[in-house]
Amino acid sequence: MTVFEKEMTLFSVVSANNKLLPVLNRFGIYMGLGDATIEQTCRDHGINVSFFMEIINTFSDENYFPENQLIEFDLSLIIQYLKQTHFYYFDFVLPDFEEQLEKISESNKNESNDFSVLNLFYRKYKSEITDHLSDEDKNVFPYVTDIQNVFNKNMSVQSFKSKYVNRSIGDFEKEHSDIETKLNDLKNIIIKYLPSGYNPNLCNKFLYSLMRFEADLKNHARIEDKILIPKVIELEAKMDKIHEDQ
Ligand SMILES: [Fe+2]
Ligand SMILES: [Fe+2]
Repeated sequence: MTVFEKEMTLFSVVSANNKLLPVLNRFGIYMGLGDATIEQTCRDHGINVSFFMEIINTFSDENYFPENQLIEFDLSLIIQYLKQTHFYYFDFVLPDFEEQLEKISESNKNESNDFSVLNLFYRKYKSEITDHLSDEDKNVFPYVTDIQNVFNKNMSVQSFKSKYVNRSIGDFEKEHSDIETKLNDLKNIIIKYLPSGYNPNLCNKFLYSLMRFEADLKNHARIEDKILIPKVIELEAKMDKIHEDQ
């Protein structure tokens, strides 16, 4: 896979990998890309170009994983990107899944079919992923933002310590394995057990959407597990050192 460079046009980037379109949207870049280079577009949108390059390259190639480069960025940039991704899941992906499921159910031509099992699996998955994302939005990201605030001198170590008595990132961030397993269960139940009678094209479309989401989510979890958490652990250790010296 080609590594994208900032001198390339965004149009050529999207032509090489159209799955990047929703990633661009998370930075406030939408269609109507014209012939501008990545660098120009980032400048026009007030985006940190180095961070943008690392995100699109990480997203495009699983083997491109710039832990060392990404770890240099201010956590607020990473949090902003992760929050936008959650917003995209809540605002577009989950409602789209529900619309598709309804259409599949309506396409049924076999009266003895029971759609409730698939609905049940979907609802279980939805509640799992919603809890996970909401918990990050409400608890993990504010904690991370506060720790970054300490290092940007917007919060004192003392105030941080009294707000989060004896707590660390390990108490906040939950594992991703459960949501990955439940999504896999949902896919498998369709492939293995969905009875005939439903429109096959709609079923395939739903399955492809689940697979695309699975890939997006893996990338998202990778950024949280391999970049966000290690960076927070590093800052926690530095902060403890400052606290001891005070
Ligand atoms: Fe997340
Ligand atoms: Fe997560």
